[in-house]
Amino acid sequence: MVVASGAFALLIAAVFVLLVFAIRGQRDSANRAIRAQEAISAGNKLEKLAIDLETGVRGYVASGAKPVFLEPYSAARQAYPAQARELEALVRDNPAASATAQKITGSINDYVDLYSIPMISLANDKIDVARSVIVNGTGPQRIQAIRGQFQQLFNSERALADKRTSQASSRASVAVGFGIGGLVIGLSAVLVLAIYLARSVVRPVREVAAGAERVAHGDLSARAPDQRSDELGDLGRAFNTMAASLEHSRDEVAARTAELERSNAELDQFAAVTSHDLKEPLQTVTVFAGLLDRDYRELLDDSGKTFLDSILAGTDRMRTLIRDLLEYSRVGHGELQREPVPMDELLDRARDNLAGRIAEKSATLTSDPLPTVDVDPKQLCQVLQNLLSNALKFSDDDAPEVHVSAALFPGEWRFSVRDNGIGIDPRQAERIFQPFARLGASKEGTGIGLAICQKIVEHHGGRIWVEGRPGSGSVFHFTIPDSASTEDRRPATAPAGVGA
Ligand SMILES: Nc1ncnc2c1ncn2[C@@H]1O[C@H](COP(=O)(O)OP(=O)(O)OP(=O)(O)O)[C@@H](O)[C@H]1O
Ligand SMILES: [Mg+2]
Repeated sequence: MVVASGAFALLIAAVFVLLVFAIRGQRDSANRAIRAQEAISAGNKLEKLAIDLETGVRGYVASGAKPVFLEPYSAARQAYPAQARELEALVRDNPAASATAQKITGSINDYVDLYSIPMISLANDKIDVARSVIVNGTGPQRIQAIRGQFQQLFNSERALADKRTSQASSRASVAVGFGIGGLVIGLSAVLVLAIYLARSVVRPVREVAAGAERVAHGDLSARAPDQRSDELGDLGRAFNTMAASLEHSRDEVAARTAELERSNAELDQFAAVTSHDLKEPLQTVTVFAGLLDRDYRELLDDSGKTFLDSILAGTDRMRTLIRDLLEYSRVGHGELQREPVPMDELLDRARDNLAGRIAEKSATLTSDPLPTVDVDPKQLCQVLQNLLSNALKFSDDDAPEVHVSAALFPGEWRFSVRDNGIGIDPRQAERIFQPFARLGASKEGTGIGLAICQKIVEHHGGRIWVEGRPGSGSVFHFTIPDSASTEDRRPATAPAGVGA
C-alpha cells in the first residue's frame, strides 16, 4: 500500500519534471529565434547607416561641398559605432555571424577612415578633383562589399532563426506530448489505484467491519482474513486475536457459571437435606428436655437447673437456625411470580408486620413516593422487611429514624433504606451478605436475613450493597431492572411520611 502510493507519487513527479523541461526548452528556443530577428533588424539599421555615409559623401561632393548635404553623413558617422556594438552583442551566440559582424564593423571603419574623411577634405580643398575621383572612386565598391557582408550575416541569422523556430515548435509539440502523456498516465494511475484500493483495502476493511458487527451481535466465531503481510494483515490478525480471546473468555465464564450453579444447587440441596434431617433428632431432644423441665426440675440443684435452661435455650436456637437454613435454601428457586406491584403497598405491608417493633423502639419510618415494579410481591416484601428490621435492630438510638426512597437510573430502579443506626465498617460490607455472617454478638438473629435479601434481589436480576461508616448510620441499596417498570407507574409527586 505504502509502496503503491510512493510509486504513484514518483510517477506524477517524473511526468511533471519532464513537462517542465519540455516547456523550458520550448521557451529558450523561442527566445533565441526572437534574438535572431532582432539581430537582423539591428543589421538592417547598420546597413542603412553605411548607405547614409556613402550617399552623404556623394551628395556633399556633388553639391559642391555644401555643408547641408553632409548632414546625413555626420549623423550616420556618429550613430554607427553604437549600432555596430548592438549588432555584435546580438549575434554573440552565433560564431559565424559574430565574425561577419566584426568584419562589417572593420569595413565601415575603413570606409570612414580611409575613404570618406580624405574625400571630404579633398572636396573642401579641390572640389573638381574630388568630383572626378568620386565618379571612379572606390567608395561605392567598398559600400557594395559591405552590403555583401551584410547579406552574408542576414543569411546566417535567418538560417539560425528558422532553425530555432522549428526547434521551438518541435519542443512545444514535445511539451504538449508530455502534458497529454502525463495526463493519461496520471488518470490511468488514479484508476489503477482506485481499483487497487477497492480490492485490496476497502474489501478487507469491510470484512473486518462485518466481523466486528457479528461479534457485537454475539457471534464470537467471526474471523477476518489474516494472510496478508501488510497493515491490513495486522488488522485482521489483531481482530482474530481479540475475537478468539473473547470466545475463550465467554467459554470460560459459561463453564464457571455452570460450575457455580451446580455447586449452589448442591449447597441448597445439602442445606435442605441437612436441615430436614436435623429436625427429627432436634424434636426428640426438645421433647425430652421439655419433659425433664416439667417433671424433674424440682429434683435438680441450682447447677442442674442452669444446665437444663442452657439445653432448652440451645434447642430453641437450633430450631431457629434450622428454620432459617431451610428458608434460605428454598428462596430463589423456580419461576418468579412477577406482577406489577406498587412498592408503596409492599412497604405498608412490611411496616404492618413490624408494627410491634416500631412501636417498641418509638421509631420513625418515612418514605418518598415509590414506583410500581414487576416483582414477586411476597419475596420483595421479605426484602423490605429484613432491611427495615435490621435498621430498627442495629440502632443504639432511643428513637431510630428510617427512610425509604427510590430513584430511576438507566435501565434500573434503585431503592434505598437509610437508617441513623450504628453503621457498618466498609471492610465488612461484603461479608454481611454471606449466610450466618453477623458483626458483633449483642443482637438477636441468625445472620441469614441479608443472605436471603441478596438471593431474592439477584433472582430478580438486580444487585444489593451497603454504604456506611461505624457510627454514621447505613444505607442499603438494591436495584430492580427497569424493564420491570413503566412510565405510568412512576411514583406520585411529594415524599410521603409513614410514621410509626
Ligand atoms: N442496618 C444495619 N446497621 C448496622 N449493621 C447491620 C445492619 N444490617 C445488618 N447489619 C449487620 O449485618 C449482619 C447481618 O445481617 P443479617 O440481617 O443478615 O443478620 P441478622 O439481622 O443478624 O440476623 P437475621 O436477619 O437472621 O435475624 C448483622 O448481624 C449486623 O451485624
Ligand atoms: Mg437481619
